Amino acid sequence: MQTIENAPSVSHFERIGGEPVIRQLVDRFYDLMDQEAAARGIRALHPADLTESRNKLYWFLVGWMGGPPLYIERFGHPRLRMRHAPFAIGTSERDQWLWCMFKALEELVPDASLREQLQRSFMQTADFMRNQNE
Ligand code: HEM
Repeated sequence: MQTIENAPSVSHFERIGGEPVIRQLVDRFYDLMDQEAAARGIRALHPADLTESRNKLYWFLVGWMGGPPLYIERFGHPRLRMRHAPFAIGTSERDQWLWCMFKALEELVPDASLREQLQRSFMQTADFMRNQNE
């Protein structure tokens, strides 16, 4: 008999709707970063043209959620903290990043339990990127 305890685990990648929904999530995230005054500080850290930023976050998140390792295939181990070291990231930058991501999640992920799990994971990862003593 299948119960909650022994149900096969379903990845975040499958629950969110796979690559098309992750692409929409990333596009909405960067549109918000590009357009909203609340994210002006972190927008200024990014290149004028966000095409590569969109692609890299998309490739990364597909693997991070349990789908194919698109980022690793192209660039090797993400070493995210090291790759963020050139940018000054404190609590304000972290919170601006999360503001954009949470808003995109609210719009694109109707499953509240999945949304909360993703919010928690994003909070942990974003907090880990901080490199400023405040
Ligand atoms: C905490 C606040 C954060 C800030 C201010 C920030 C900012 C940046 C900036 C300025 C870049 C370089 C420009 C670019 O390549 O797009 C970058 C790259 C990247 N960020 Fe973030 N980021 C943050 C958090 C995160 C989080 C939480 C994730 C993943 C869940 C993430 C994933 C990435 C990836 C995959 C790249 C591309 C790395 C590469 O291959 O060069 N970032 N980020």
